[in-house]
Amino acid sequence: MNESTVPVFSVLDVEKRFLLRKGRSGPVELRALDSVRLDIEAGSSVALVGESGSGKSTLVRMLLGLDSPGEGRVLYDGMDLQQVLARDRARFAREVAFVYQDARGSMNPRFTIGEIIGEPMRVHRLHPAQDIPRRVASLLERVGLPASAAVRYPHQLSGGQVRRVAVARALAQEPRVIMADEAVAGLDVSVQASLLNLLRELVAELKVTLVFVTHDLGVASYLCDRIAVMYLGRILETGPVDAILQGPAHPYTRGLLESFPRFDRALRAPLRGEIPSPVDLPAGCRFAGRCPCVQPQCTAADPVARALDGARLVACLYPLSGDAAPA
Ligand SMILES: Nc1ncnc2c1ncn2[C@@H]1O[C@H](COP(=O)(O)OP(=O)(O)OP(=O)(O)O)[C@@H](O)[C@H]1O
Ligand SMILES: [Mg+2]
Repeated sequence: MNESTVPVFSVLDVEKRFLLRKGRSGPVELRALDSVRLDIEAGSSVALVGESGSGKSTLVRMLLGLDSPGEGRVLYDGMDLQQVLARDRARFAREVAFVYQDARGSMNPRFTIGEIIGEPMRVHRLHPAQDIPRRVASLLERVGLPASAAVRYPHQLSGGQVRRVAVARALAQEPRVIMADEAVAGLDVSVQASLLNLLRELVAELKVTLVFVTHDLGVASYLCDRIAVMYLGRILETGPVDAILQGPAHPYTRGLLESFPRFDRALRAPLRGEIPSPVDLPAGCRFAGRCPCVQPQCTAADPVARALDGARLVACLYPLSGDAAPA
């Protein structure tokens, strides 16, 4: 296979169950990921979206090698991630950076910002010690912080500034891939917008691969070129973000879009019904009980993802065509 066609990450039928307790009739397990398939191409930016509990963070932990799949495999550059980690964990840790949601909590409060940003350069021996302060200064400038921030401590910065430091720290390790889990959630809209602008510029400029977890479809479409829509541990639809948000093929994607506030139209009815328990998934399609387009076959067969228009995959027996009205 030509190297340029090998995805950075391939998620191959990954399953992750958590044992909740040993019940009388056997173990009670929660299915956090169930037959998840996803390719992340080099240079792409992928948004993982879905309601709370859909498995976004669990999938990111798999990609970071922090957790291993119960079934299935994660490939990094076409190689089994567990083998990559066994061979050279330090290299993987340098190549794949993670931006935490709790940016402040992820920083040692006793370290100055300069030390925090300089640490990955020291740990990964990327620059001689005497060059690190200059490199820190240039990263601070790149993320829009004053050089004087280097001598301050995390608690002396605002929430938005701390997130910028987290981005600078990720860049300091000169990664190929940046993963971020809800990295702009909980910030003022204007602070969020300026961080998103920064991330967008960086992705375009540095050609890093981005995996960005968000609840917000607006954020997904602004920042990313691809989207994976998750529901109860499964990716229901994935492909180019614009095509999917303009013409969702999965009724769940359409439901998410319709419950998402937009200025140009009145809010339609949000997704009806309750999300089933991941401990006791229904037979057939896991969305069938909430689906406005449900057919008898939907509760019998669990749909596998199939290619729709060449560019996207949809796990639905009766995908919507374009932006057609509900059946
Ligand atoms: N360590 C664990 N033990 C037991 N259950 C877990 C564990 N981690 C996650 N889960 C469960 O797995 C499912 C997926 O969780 P996950 O955190 O991946 O969802 P998420 O999509 O990131 O949600 P959110 O948007 O709220 O962050 C949830 O039902 C969650 O309760
Ligand atoms: Mg999460």
